[in-house]
Amino acid sequence: MALRTVVIYGSVRTTRQGIRAARFVVNECRARGHDVTLIDPAEYRLPLLDKMYKEYPKGQAPETLERIAALIVPADAIVVVSGEYNHSIPPALSNLLDHFLEEWFWKPSAIVCYSAGPFAGVRAAMQLRAMLGELGMSSIPSILPVPKVQSAFAEDGTPTDPGMPGRAAKFFDELEWYACALRDARNKPRERSDCTAEEVGPKRAESPMTD
Ligand SMILES: Cc1cc2nc3c(=O)[nH]c(=O)nc-3n(C[C@H](O)[C@H](O)[C@H](O)COP(=O)(O)O)c2cc1C
Repeated sequence: MALRTVVIYGSVRTTRQGIRAARFVVNECRARGHDVTLIDPAEYRLPLLDKMYKEYPKGQAPETLERIAALIVPADAIVVVSGEYNHSIPPALSNLLDHFLEEWFWKPSAIVCYSAGPFAGVRAAMQLRAMLGELGMSSIPSILPVPKVQSAFAEDGTPTDPGMPGRAAKFFDELEWYACALRDARNKPRERSDCTAEEVGPKRAESPMTD
């Protein structure tokens, strides 16, 4: 079964440039056979967080939250395409992420970071990694940094840097490994006794997400 991949982009600026990187990611995932969807905050226009999705009675959340939840709950992998605003995470992105919690759990995320300058948004990526971990979708080891995003892709996401497809291939290979491994794990609920210290090495830390 094709991996279900959700790509989340974090800018709603009218002159935004990172949408090119987001389109590149969508195109690459599609070419690799993923069932891929872009969540563009400019399309959903979420208000600043009032209630999280889970705080609404079942079936009574605003339609935009229901639509986003319907995409992320069945997803196998989340790719977050993030710029860097004041060395940190763009507000539209953190606002979108904050609206959900359990809906993100137990799936891998992967960070594509970018900026207009030479540093490619890596400072925001490090903060984003901490946030994604707290949301229960730890990021894969690699990130895909894009400097000078405004000239790195054509409008439709076609890369101008001949080295980009090769770097991206390693990044997506890694994401697919984690996405498949965690999908298998989600589909095969384990008893605690399946993971004894002898079998898996150091004792696993108790997850805050378990009862
Ligand atoms: C509010 C704001 C803060 C920014 N801060 C940074 C920054 O800290 N580091 C950086 O490299 N670029 C910074 N930039 C420039 C962005 O890298 C550049 O505008 C980029 O295109 C933003 O992504 P977007 O076009 O997808 O919104 C900032 C831009 C904005 C609008």
